[in-house]
Amino acid sequence: MPHLFSKLRMRDVDFANRIGVSPMCQYSSVDGYANDWHFAHLGARAVGGAGLVFTEAAAVTPEGRISPQDLGVWSERHFEPLERIVRFIEGQGARAGIQLAHAGRKGSTYRPGAGNGAVPEAAGGWRPVAPSAVPFSDSYPMPDEMTVDQIHAVHGAFAAAAERAFAAGFRVIEIHAAHGYLNHEFLSPFSNRRVDAYGGSFDNRTRFVRECVAAVRRALPGRCPLFVRISATDWVEGGWDIDQSVELARQLLALGVDVIDCSSGGNVEKAEIPVGPGYQTPFAERIRREANVATAALGMITAPAQADQIIRNDQADIVLLARQMLRDPYWPLHAAQELGQVAPWPRQYLRAAPSGTPERAPAVARSDRAAQPVGT
Ligand SMILES: Cc1cc2nc3c(=O)[nH]c(=O)nc-3n(C[C@H](O)[C@H](O)[C@H](O)COP(=O)(O)O)c2cc1C
Repeated sequence: MPHLFSKLRMRDVDFANRIGVSPMCQYSSVDGYANDWHFAHLGARAVGGAGLVFTEAAAVTPEGRISPQDLGVWSERHFEPLERIVRFIEGQGARAGIQLAHAGRKGSTYRPGAGNGAVPEAAGGWRPVAPSAVPFSDSYPMPDEMTVDQIHAVHGAFAAAAERAFAAGFRVIEIHAAHGYLNHEFLSPFSNRRVDAYGGSFDNRTRFVRECVAAVRRALPGRCPLFVRISATDWVEGGWDIDQSVELARQLLALGVDVIDCSSGGNVEKAEIPVGPGYQTPFAERIRREANVATAALGMITAPAQADQIIRNDQADIVLLARQMLRDPYWPLHAAQELGQVAPWPRQYLRAAPSGTPERAPAVARSDRAAQPVGT
């Protein structure tokens, strides 16, 4: 029976356990570049024993950033600092994942604590794009409705970023289609008022996401797992909901998606969300059962026994933790102790580990990614 510390193999990628670090914006980049903060932050969580370490949302175009301080991956050069981070994560026996994102109408907003709503162009902001000219709220910028050419260009940007990410050593690619950002905006009738092939019916509203997934899948080698994070519901009557999510998951599975990462909300300002321990796990469970696809569960998963039960009860294949990983980057090592499981520790820290703890496999030296791609 699989449990939290069972290994997992997906396509050609092995995961040491079922624990992942959920994507978390750090709002610490200049011009989209990763820096020492990202190295220390992501590296610490790989040292902490997670099997999968996701970067924060990485914008595939400059306008696709949420704030001017977001991580970006719209050029080859953006991957240079990321490669060093990937090497370190892999050296700890974890897989490096990247979340590719476009913020849509939620772009050009202040990072938390720096202000509210729209960033003016004079302060480094921009005019965001969206399915329709409908702002997220009164304080958010008014977006421009995307043309079909712009839609195709964004799909191309997702595909180019995915191809570069794999070349840089990332072994999991995730498309962000949740939290009221561009992909989700197309899915939800609250943000999508289009009357062309990208709006109206379920088929039309899901077209943007399906085309995005197909473009990314084509850009990736068959051995690379592809995740899609969705908001399983808008939590508002008449919006995107779990029934539509199940049907979308079936279609994404057929397009070569390996994991549906099940979040919720983010597209309706005043939605009432019943936040509580494991509140989104039922979405992961239902999509897994009804669409017959692997899922990731997330949202207020904090206790080792809780996370372990999600895997043992077949509610999800992977658990992703966000804030708990900020509180405790060594959560996986602590969870193993609490659950009576054995998890390898880094050689450098073995003197502090419980007796009998195995040493983590030594890092694979990779001086040149072109000559020695990870996992091949
Ligand atoms: C600081 C912070 C930044 C976040 N940034 C992202 C992000 O870049 N992409 C994303 O999909 N979710 C993001 N989230 C949401 C988390 O990935 C996660 O879904 C959410 O926090 C619920 O999980 P938790 O209860 O374990 O924190 C962020 C959450 C936090 C706390």
